[in-house]
Amino acid sequence: MLALLAGCSAPAPTPAEKAAFAAKAMPGDARLAGLYTQSCKTCHADPATGAPLVGDAEAWAPRLAQGPDVLLASVISGKNAMPAGGQCFACTPDDFKALTKFMSEAHQ
Ligand code: HEC
Repeated sequence: MLALLAGCSAPAPTPAEKAAFAAKAMPGDARLAGLYTQSCKTCHADPATGAPLVGDAEAWAPRLAQGPDVLLASVISGKNAMPAGGQCFACTPDDFKALTKFMSEAHQ
């Protein structure tokens, strides 16, 4: 049982579990949490938008594989249904990097 709870050996979460986690995950830093709530969360915590969900390691793996520069460029310029800058007009490039890191590394 403990091994199951340890993380890596746990079975992959169901779509419902992923959505439930994404709905409550929040950056620890207060300023970042504010930016996240006003912008990224609208899509990245809603499976219906097609955005990779916060904490969905499976969805983020192929995106992270593109490398941090490509990811940052996607955020700044937009990508398909992802609007340029993620609709965060107060975000700096460092904010985008930190928000992407949070969303891709948050754990269930
Ligand atoms: C209006 C909805 C929406 C908002 C708001 C939004 N995103 Fe996205 N995001 C998407 C969608 C949809 C995709 C998937 C795009 C694709 O690959 O087709 C995506 C993909 C991404 C990716 C992966 C890009 C890649 O190259 O694979 C990153 C990184 C990202 N978003 C970061 C952010 C950040 C950071 C914010 C907040 C500042 C944000 N997004 C706000 C919808 C949104």
